[in-house]
Amino acid sequence: MKRRNFLQFLGTGAVSMSLLPPFVHACNSEEKRRISSLTSLVNGIAPSSEDELVLAEGLSFKRLISFGDVLNQTETFGFNNDYTAFVPDHENSDKGTLWVNHEYTHDLFISGYKDGEIKTKTQADLELRSVGGSILRVQRSSDGQWELIPGADHKRLHGLSEIPFNWDQPIAGSSLAIGTFQNCSGGVTPWGSILTCEENYQHAFGEAIHGSDEVDYHHGTHGWEAFYDHRPEHYGWVVEVDLTTGKAQKHVALGRFCHECATLIELADGRLVVYSGDDGNDQFLYKFISAVPGSLKEGTLYVANIDQGVWMPMDISDERLSSVFKDQTEVLIHCRKAGAILGATPLDRPEDIEIDPVTGDILMACTNNKPKGNYHGQIMKVIEDGGDYASLTFRSEVYLTGGSALGFTCPDNLAFDQGGNLWFTGDMSGSSMHKAPYETFGNNGLFLVPRSGPQAGEVFQVASGPMDSELTGPFFHPDGKTLFLSVQHPGEQTNDLENLTSHWPDGGDALPKPTVVCIYGPLLDILNGV
Ligand code: FEO
Ligand code: CA
Ligand code: CA
Repeated sequence: MKRRNFLQFLGTGAVSMSLLPPFVHACNSEEKRRISSLTSLVNGIAPSSEDELVLAEGLSFKRLISFGDVLNQTETFGFNNDYTAFVPDHENSDKGTLWVNHEYTHDLFISGYKDGEIKTKTQADLELRSVGGSILRVQRSSDGQWELIPGADHKRLHGLSEIPFNWDQPIAGSSLAIGTFQNCSGGVTPWGSILTCEENYQHAFGEAIHGSDEVDYHHGTHGWEAFYDHRPEHYGWVVEVDLTTGKAQKHVALGRFCHECATLIELADGRLVVYSGDDGNDQFLYKFISAVPGSLKEGTLYVANIDQGVWMPMDISDERLSSVFKDQTEVLIHCRKAGAILGATPLDRPEDIEIDPVTGDILMACTNNKPKGNYHGQIMKVIEDGGDYASLTFRSEVYLTGGSALGFTCPDNLAFDQGGNLWFTGDMSGSSMHKAPYETFGNNGLFLVPRSGPQAGEVFQVASGPMDSELTGPFFHPDGKTLFLSVQHPGEQTNDLENLTSHWPDGGDALPKPTVVCIYGPLLDILNGV
């Protein structure tokens, strides 16, 4: 029934079946029907301030990999793991490749650098090598748990990797960027590569001032510009990584801004639609529609006017843009300025975006907008007219509102499991956790909204991260039996190695370590109908 409704919803601009979540493929089966007959099974946890990864009844975790773990003879697992994406070797495979983003540095933990000191190039290089991403070859062992394949060809991409632009014109004088960093969330392509998004790039090599060669470094940089003369225009892109070769490219056509994610839909005719939010106060929602099948280069980038429900093309042929920018490349480099000129709607820090596998709606987490008095954020729905992802008109509504009523705040990463249940993480900033107006929420957590049964639509907290951490990058294995999850920045408020604010995951006196865990358990199995 649900499958039929969903397919009716899809209409003529339908996505190909290959990109539909397995739930939609499989929900005719007897086994999946069991989901709708579930009685109350989720026992949520209360907010916690423990220095532990606390999980709800029916869930357990095992550590997969931590910062500094050896990958090969020259490379180690990077810092601040965020987005994860599992790409199986074959459908429901027990082997596959796990991509992991490494978002940003905490220099004290990586190079020993302390505020006020003069940074050395050795320290800068250590820091730059700790961001970007990891390509991990993983397998399910005989006890059902995931592990790195010993001796396999694990790879790294980092802040010193050479990455070309997928564009015909040079970007700030070069066809090549050095490095990727601030890799926040991402997406998976139909051909099995991943997209990794450069979010707060201005923290690394500053921001370019439109119409000037000057660089604005007033964004809390790491001092890397003392050693590397990189242009800010080389960062803030969506980067595609071939998981087999490790080769990457930066997709200029998707625009440059603080990309949180890149959520990709393949239309029935092979063209692609990519949704991406710009995680800044009063920044915008974008979508790219390719002009030809399979292209992330040829197509049009649109920015959303939510008030009017229209997608506005960011095209130099619009005289409001041609009077300010010299060509299309400049429009794409300065999306924030171009979007504002076109009258895009300011949003409350648009973060992750996922497609609801049952309704086809687009869910978008808006974390907060403190200057506007929105401390708890909301999850919104964007509903394209005619159920067509290529539509240029849409409507939107608030789906879940953060705050004490529903028991969550600052929604960030979203994931649907194979049962169509929604999982999402929260992101209170480290400096604001445990203080008003967040004191009742404990540490950052993971939340679950069951799809069906008597608990359908309720919000349950199902995990709480260790001190100062943020749970990020939830991603389900196609069989629904494993949830890959990043535990990012435990102990982030530490500014003295003698006074650590977290010792997770090793405990005792150990330094805290960003870590990817695998979550298993009967609750997952029941929710996923496996
Ligand atoms: Fe890196 Fe917007 O979170
Ligand atoms: Ca995020
Ligand atoms: Ca966030």
